[in-house]
Amino acid sequence: MIPFIDLAAQRARIRDGLQSRVNAILDGGRYILGPEVQELEAALAAFGGTRYALTCANGTDALALPLMAWALRRKDAVFVPSFTFASTAEVVLWLGATPVFVDIDPDTYCMDPKSLARAVQWVKGQPDLEPSVVIAVDLFGQPTDYPAISAICQDEGMRLIADSAQGFGCTLNGRHPAFWADIATISFYPAKPLGCYGDGGAMVMDDETLAGLIKSLRNHGEGQDRYEYARIGMNSRLDTLQAGILLEKLSIFPDEIKSRNRAAAFYRGGFGDVVKTPQVINGGVSTWAQYTIEVEDRDRFRAGLSEAGVPTAVYYPVPIHMQSPYAACPCAPDGLPVTEAAAARVVSLPMDAYLEGGRAETVIRAVRAAV
Ligand SMILES: Cc1ncc(COP(=O)(O)O)c(C=O)c1O
Repeated sequence: MIPFIDLAAQRARIRDGLQSRVNAILDGGRYILGPEVQELEAALAAFGGTRYALTCANGTDALALPLMAWALRRKDAVFVPSFTFASTAEVVLWLGATPVFVDIDPDTYCMDPKSLARAVQWVKGQPDLEPSVVIAVDLFGQPTDYPAISAICQDEGMRLIADSAQGFGCTLNGRHPAFWADIATISFYPAKPLGCYGDGGAMVMDDETLAGLIKSLRNHGEGQDRYEYARIGMNSRLDTLQAGILLEKLSIFPDEIKSRNRAAAFYRGGFGDVVKTPQVINGGVSTWAQYTIEVEDRDRFRAGLSEAGVPTAVYYPVPIHMQSPYAACPCAPDGLPVTEAAAARVVSLPMDAYLEGGRAETVIRAVRAAV
């Protein structure tokens, strides 16, 4: 079986840099919030084009922290896609607020602004709900239609979070999601385009007040002095070791995004005539966290690829609104037909920055044979 994500090839490329970072951190002895954490935060802010970047323990906390800072309540409707990883909706329920599920665009799999607009109108007719926040997900590394979504947020006085767990590094018209959103959140889970060797997350933003609140919240609500607490917070910090690893990986990340885009173009040229391949929004650059196609008979297709030594994965087989813990949460008034159709047909293929050559050709041959 060829690897689904070849992390070993990346590790071989930066082995020496990783080793010296890790050695320096072990010798330095500052394992929590050490100097590499601040160095990484400065580098992430510069990369993402924002004034502030703050790291945290994982991409789920990165979504929860701004919601905590905004002190949401039950009446606050938070519009989220259902075709996403659980965290996007889960954190809304942690806060006791109300997730409202919105449908996706059939070509990009990101939030459909028309479905969002309809869901907002529905919420405005509910006595116990108010439109409050939108969490748009840069699914599979694709930038969401931020100009359209942020225009709705501005009209309705809603805040906007870009869940860029999979998409940090993606751009639309040359700008990062945080240009439109109040805050963009990142996951450094190892399989993500910018992944560390454990759990990790971050948030990038321009708002100084929000950054100050989140800095306090991620460290137990710390106040001005040591062991003085200004609010109820949590323990959500990035290890210094992971920060050091991410600094090395960030140095090759722009080059890796280019390689991923070359691999995606190679795939499209190889089988775009026989299966539905993903379409990037006009003016967008994806980080290709996943390369996801659609097929009719997914089980048979996956079995064919497996026989040819090509692993596949399904993101996501059951949309969140159809899972029991979320069954009582409201959906956009016309339902989520695009989400439900996509969940039955999508299948993701091997994708990373080291795919060019033999491995990509093996995948293309197997896809053509299986359809
Ligand atoms: C869209 C999305 N949001 C949030 C997360 C949560 O990130 P983490 O696993 O680092 O908590 C993920 C992780 O897969 C994700 O894909």
